[in-house]
Amino acid sequence: MARSEAAKKKNVARQTHIGRVEVRMCGSRHAVDYTNEASIEKRFLSCFGQMKAEGVVPTRLRPMSLTMKNALVLGATGGIGRAVVATLKERGAQVTGLSRSDGLDVTDPASVDRMLAALEGPFDLIFVAIGILAPSDGSPEKALTAIEASAMSQVFAVNAIGPALILRHAPRVLAKDKRGVVAVLSARVGSIGDNQIGGWHSYRASKAAVNQIVHGAAIELGRSHKQSICVALHPGTVETPFTADYAGRHKTVPAAEAASNLLTVIDGLTPDETGGFFDYAGKRIPW
Ligand SMILES: NC(=O)c1ccc[n+]([C@@H]2O[C@H](COP(=O)([O-])OP(=O)(O)OC[C@H]3O[C@@H](n4cnc5c(N)ncnc54)[C@H](OP(=O)(O)O)[C@@H]3O)[C@@H](O)[C@H]2O)c1
Repeated sequence: MARSEAAKKKNVARQTHIGRVEVRMCGSRHAVDYTNEASIEKRFLSCFGQMKAEGVVPTRLRPMSLTMKNALVLGATGGIGRAVVATLKERGAQVTGLSRSDGLDVTDPASVDRMLAALEGPFDLIFVAIGILAPSDGSPEKALTAIEASAMSQVFAVNAIGPALILRHAPRVLAKDKRGVVAVLSARVGSIGDNQIGGWHSYRASKAAVNQIVHGAAIELGRSHKQSICVALHPGTVETPFTADYAGRHKTVPAAEAASNLLTVIDGLTPDETGGFFDYAGKRIPW
C-alpha cells in the first residue's frame, strides 16, 4: 500500500470542543460526543475501542459512562451543585446530594460530622459545590477599608473551613482500590498569581485557603488511596444566584453547561494531576 494511502487509513483523534472529538477511524471522519458513547455508530465501536486501547484517543476525553457510578454532591441545592446532580443522574450515576435543607451546615462542625458519618460510600466522586461570595447581608469588599472581621470569618467558615471539615471524611468514604475523585469548587479569583485588580479580599483569600487545603488533602489521600485525584476547580462565570449581582461584563454560561464542562474535566483527570487547580476547560490555573 502506498505511504499516503496508509496515512489516510491511520486512526487519529483531535479535540474540537470540550467533550467532543473529531475522529478519523477506519478511513472515515466523525464528530464524536465523548460524553455519550452511544452516539458512535455501532459499526465503528470496535474501531473506537481499538483506538482507546492504543491510546490514540486522549485519556482526558475518556467517556463519562466509564467512570463515576456513585457520586456524593455537597451543596446540591446550589446553582452548580443542582446541575451537577442532574447531569450525573442523566448519565446513569447514583447520586447522594446533601445540603443545608438536609441538615448539612458547614459552619456547624457537628452537623458535618453527623451527616458524613451516616454515609457508607465508597464514592468514586465527591463534589463540593458549597460557597458564598459574602454574608447574606453584605457584599464583597471593594477596598481594604471595607474589611470587616465578622464578615471575613463567615466567608472563611463556609468557603475554606467548610470544605476542610468535609475532607476530614474523605479517607473513609472515597473509593480506595479504584479511581476516586474529590473536586472542590474554588474560583479563579482565589489565584494569587492571577490577581491583577485586588478587592474581594475575603472571598479571594478564602478560596486561596481552600486551594491549600485541597492540595494538602491530595498529598495525604495519595498515600492511602493510590488512584485518588483531589483537585480545586474553577467553574467559569456561571448563571446562578451567586453571580446575579456581579457577573458584569464576564461571559456567563448556564449552570447545566458549567456542570457538563466540570464533569468532562473531572473525567479526564489522572492521578498524576492530583492536588492541582484547574479551570472548566481543564487548563491549570496558577496558584
Ligand atoms: N457561579 C459562579 O460563577 C462561580 C464562579 C466561581 C466559583 N464559584 C464557586 O462555585 C461554588 C458554587 O457556586 P454557585 O454559583 O452554585 O452558588 P449558589 O447557587 O449560591 O450555591 C451555593 C451553595 O452553597 C451552599 N451553602 C451556602 N452556605 C452553606 C453552609 N453554611 N453550609 C452548607 N451549604 C452552604 C448553598 O446552600 P443553600 O441552598 O442552603 O443556600 C448552595 O447549595 C461556590 O463555591 C462558588 O464560590 C461559582
